[in-house]
Amino acid sequence: MLKNPSALEKDPSRYDAVWKAAEEYMRARKNDIHIPLSFACAQTLLKHYPDADHDICSLAILLHDIGWYSIDMDRILSEGFRRENFLQTDVRYLHEEEGVRLGTEVLRATGWSEEVVEAVCEIIDGHDTRAEPHHLNDRIVRDADKLWRYSVPGIAVICDWMEMTPRQYADRLENQYQKLETEQGKLMAKSMLADSRIQLMLHLI
Ligand SMILES: [Fe+2]
Ligand SMILES: [Fe+2]
Repeated sequence: MLKNPSALEKDPSRYDAVWKAAEEYMRARKNDIHIPLSFACAQTLLKHYPDADHDICSLAILLHDIGWYSIDMDRILSEGFRRENFLQTDVRYLHEEEGVRLGTEVLRATGWSEEVVEAVCEIIDGHDTRAEPHHLNDRIVRDADKLWRYSVPGIAVICDWMEMTPRQYADRLENQYQKLETEQGKLMAKSMLADSRIQLMLHLI
């Protein structure tokens, strides 16, 4: 692993225009916390999976959830998190559709080719709702999307959404990391959760 410098290491401002163009859409559902943290997880995963497409994975994780911008926050929490089968609710499909619409707008406005737009949107469309990932790029994005949950800020944000204590949410995560797609993702999740447990004093509270 860690052979060649990534596209982002060679050009640290490579996606800056996309971040700025999507900024407004990230001011919903704590996406301005989730997306940077998941983007960083994607960069780590990409170093371990050099066959994945760096641009496609980076742009897909950056834009995958901007569709939440179009949906009312009360509806996001009641239908998107606090009910049975919350991964298959209408708001879940709607945030994917809106993500494709807004993501296309952002990528075209920042000069990416139609080929890139298509590949990124193929991942965004169905990232939460499709049963199985389509390919390696999809698997990387899917793991990066989930890995932020194992960080302290991830636990802090999501335990509120789920109306759980930090420890209840951490215990729930303990049973979920085996479902991640990549071996590296599983290792990262396990290690991040162990660190978060220490930092949040979950052995006591
Ligand atoms: Fe999503
Ligand atoms: Fe997400």
